Amino acid sequence: MTKRTPIIIGNWKTNKKAHEVNQFLEEVQGKLPDARDVQVGIAAQDIFLHEMVKDANSLELPLGIFAENVYWADEGSYTGETSPAALADIGVSGSIIGHYERRKLFKETNGSVGLKVSASLRNGLTPIVAIAEDTTRYNPDDVEMAPLTEIAVALAGVDKAVADRIVIAYEPAWAIGAAEAPSLEVIEHAARVIRNSLAILFSQDVADKIRIQYGGSVTPENAKGILGLEDIDGLLIGRASLEPAAFLNMVQDALEG
Ligand code: PGA
Repeated sequence: MTKRTPIIIGNWKTNKKAHEVNQFLEEVQGKLPDARDVQVGIAAQDIFLHEMVKDANSLELPLGIFAENVYWADEGSYTGETSPAALADIGVSGSIIGHYERRKLFKETNGSVGLKVSASLRNGLTPIVAIAEDTTRYNPDDVEMAPLTEIAVALAGVDKAVADRIVIAYEPAWAIGAAEAPSLEVIEHAARVIRNSLAILFSQDVADKIRIQYGGSVTPENAKGILGLEDIDGLLIGRASLEPAAFLNMVQDALEG
């Protein structure tokens, strides 16, 4: 079986002020595992990223700093967008791409997701591609169809030789910001459908190397069970990543898993 390094990413969304960002980084100092055992990262608002990279370096944190979105052109006249080349230049590790909130609120499509994935790979950034079923509640048919369509359209242009650098985050729309996560059976089933889709698109060998995260109402209470699933290799954590203690708790679960 292919060994995949667990990847735990906090998605801070549009939360925290500068002093709170700094406080969080100081509080996790000396408490994060070796990146070879668990890859840990925080995705934050663009305005904080450069300072966070510098702080992570000076505090010697094994912590990747991620953007929550990225544009597909390296430079040019695209007012308000962030260049993947500029993110790479300041030492950012990667970006979440196609989060459900961006698809819903900012009309992102699988087409734009695909361009952003290619631009990230070209610039050495890790793309965390969010795949969601756009429904308000669990529907077994969507678990078959949505990942297939999203992956086929969003990743069709990706060079197979570098496809194993992609991370997929399975985040059902109905579980984001909700009261609880889906059952372990639903999560494992979806992750398996996603891995099969990746195998059809690339190859079984590449699909076995791509890490699949689960995201949507992850908490310190349910993280361990989710991380124990065969096809799940990590977590994309929203609300529960804002507190250092809770975040560290889930990172520890990944280390022990
Ligand atoms: P949540 O958000 O953990 O607060 O549900 C997850 C996400 O949207 O990435």
